[in-house]
Amino acid sequence: MQNQKIVLEKRPVGLPTPDCFRIENESLSPFPQGLIRVRSEFVSLDPYQRSVIGGNHMGQTAAIGDVIPGEAVCTVVESENNEYPVGTVVRAHSGWQLFSDHAPQALSRVPSELSRPSLALSILGMPGLTAYAAMHQIAKVKAGDTVLIPAAIGGVGAMAGQLAKLAGATTIGITSSKEKGALAKELGYNHVLNRNSETLAEDLSAVAPQGISIYLDLAGDPILTIAAQHLSLGGHVILCGLIQDYNGNYKTMGPPPGLWIGKRATVSGLVVYDYEHLRSTFETAYTGLYEQGILKPSEHVFHGLESAPEAFCRMMQGQTLGKVVVEIGKGSATA
Ligand SMILES: NC(=O)c1ccc[n+]([C@@H]2O[C@H](COP(=O)([O-])OP(=O)(O)OC[C@H]3O[C@@H](n4cnc5c(N)ncnc54)[C@H](OP(=O)(O)O)[C@@H]3O)[C@@H](O)[C@H]2O)c1
Repeated sequence: MQNQKIVLEKRPVGLPTPDCFRIENESLSPFPQGLIRVRSEFVSLDPYQRSVIGGNHMGQTAAIGDVIPGEAVCTVVESENNEYPVGTVVRAHSGWQLFSDHAPQALSRVPSELSRPSLALSILGMPGLTAYAAMHQIAKVKAGDTVLIPAAIGGVGAMAGQLAKLAGATTIGITSSKEKGALAKELGYNHVLNRNSETLAEDLSAVAPQGISIYLDLAGDPILTIAAQHLSLGGHVILCGLIQDYNGNYKTMGPPPGLWIGKRATVSGLVVYDYEHLRSTFETAYTGLYEQGILKPSEHVFHGLESAPEAFCRMMQGQTLGKVVVEIGKGSATA
């Protein structure tokens, strides 16, 4: 059996380009006793991987020649473990490769009642948990709130917008094109704005004349400062991501502290790893809502492991339509 993997060829400078990555084929090593061998079915592409391959992520790094780290939905293909028999569908930190070996404690089952397993990487996975932590654990969203969310149809944004709407809030999504705006409307956002509009601040005032009470910051400046200026008194800002800064050519400074004081604002930082203990409660509750048709998915699926570098580069330029996953067709596996 052959493994196929995508490794880091060179660190990106500015926007990542496909030549930062290289595909490698290698013979699979003999199955190691005590571990569980899985085959990746859906690989998750996430903005944080830009910091990992850039060598400036807070928790992990990838050296030149390493497999690109990341999470995947996988099927167990070799196992002597009763808890994870062959055929079990799991989440694993496999990275961008076909086959990988894991200790049982490093795996998590994908709920068997989930009819679309790739969602365990998006609205029902780490991005969904991030949205849940932001809306329900930190901001405690409720009816009457006006919630602003950039990257509105992406992994975090698509779930945050729907959670806020389900709680009875008015939701405003920010995207970057008409096509994405239409998808945001399908997800239920009450209003949709375009981050490339030269009049974004005025556009926001027009749809939220009383101001916004919750801003989930996934973007950094200039949206962060515009949002802070439009915060209603006592509003809550959750700092969660800085996608504007990830490509290395921008440094968000944020609004001056006097603005926070004037607005009597609460500003919270969010790191999803702090909410891992809530994962199974979250999964159980929201898998049910998805299966009932109450929650909608927002995925951009690319096909074949070899498409991952191009897909990643497009995602980092805002050229993808939803949370990005790579489906590894059966044809990708070589025997
Ligand atoms: N703190 C945590 O624990 C945590 C956990 C998960 C994610 N995050 C962060 O949350 C953010 C969103 O992650 P995600 O997984 O949901 O990604 P995503 O939305 O699926 O993909 C990124 C999206 O960001 C938008 N974008 C790209 N460049 C931008 C720019 N310069 N300004 C504003 N928006 C831009 C694009 O959407 P449009 O073209 O539609 O604007 C793009 O599609 C990222 O910053 C990520 O690092 C943080």
